[in-house]
Amino acid sequence: SSLKTQTTPLTGKKVIVTAGGTRERIDPVRFITNDSSGKMGYALAEELQHRGAIVTLISAPTKLTVPAGVKLISVLTTEDLAEAVTSAFTQADVLVMAAAVADFKPVNSANQKIKKSADNDQMTIELTKTVDILKQVAKLKRPGQITVGFAAETQNLLENARQKIISKQLDLLIANDVSQPGVGFNGDTNQVTILQTDQAPIKTTLADKHTIAKQVVDQISQRVQKEG
Ligand code: CTP
Ligand code: CA
Repeated sequence: SSLKTQTTPLTGKKVIVTAGGTRERIDPVRFITNDSSGKMGYALAEELQHRGAIVTLISAPTKLTVPAGVKLISVLTTEDLAEAVTSAFTQADVLVMAAAVADFKPVNSANQKIKKSADNDQMTIELTKTVDILKQVAKLKRPGQITVGFAAETQNLLENARQKIISKQLDLLIANDVSQPGVGFNGDTNQVTILQTDQAPIKTTLADKHTIAKQVVDQISQRVQKEG
């Protein structure tokens, strides 16, 4: 597109985008994950690349094709993702954390397939919290580095989102109410509210994820421009 030859505030900026749902192993044939398709993250990576950014996509498994010109780092677990993000972040101008990160992982991952037992109709898998990647990144953040988080909520959207902006020290937070039809996980459409520390929330209409990506990237671009 003509944008590729034009200079934008994102031209030459190093941007990390994370996408997909992380996987936490229970045993060799089972894992815990979530409904994330990775579509929103991949759409954002593509749009950022079109605006001239140097994009690294750190992705948990998806069925998607990596956008042309985007560097892919594949990960499985939250721990893998945390390691890849924190190592890439030192060189990055912007981090867009669109991955749906597993909040808990099994305390023990069995080496052999877990068998049913004849004398017990119930089983319990003990879980432990995973590392909060954005909270970890907040401690590494230098002036001028921009971090963008996502929040999938089913209730109290703005209230929960505002708390996440503060606790994760985000510049932007893209919130979606996943209880609404057509919004968030897995579909081709989304409707988001873009929250920023220095301005009123922007609510988009329900649209194709590529259209939403353009609107989100517009805001990221403006923020990069402000940071100089
Ligand atoms: N996130 C993260 N590390 C985690 C969990 C989430 O970096 N262990 C990131 C997500 O990628 C997202 C943002 O934090 O950008 C918010 O994720 P969300 O699941 O909405 O919030 P949580 O902090 O996990 O809180 P909860 O799920 O309890 O609402
Ligand atoms: Ca979570």
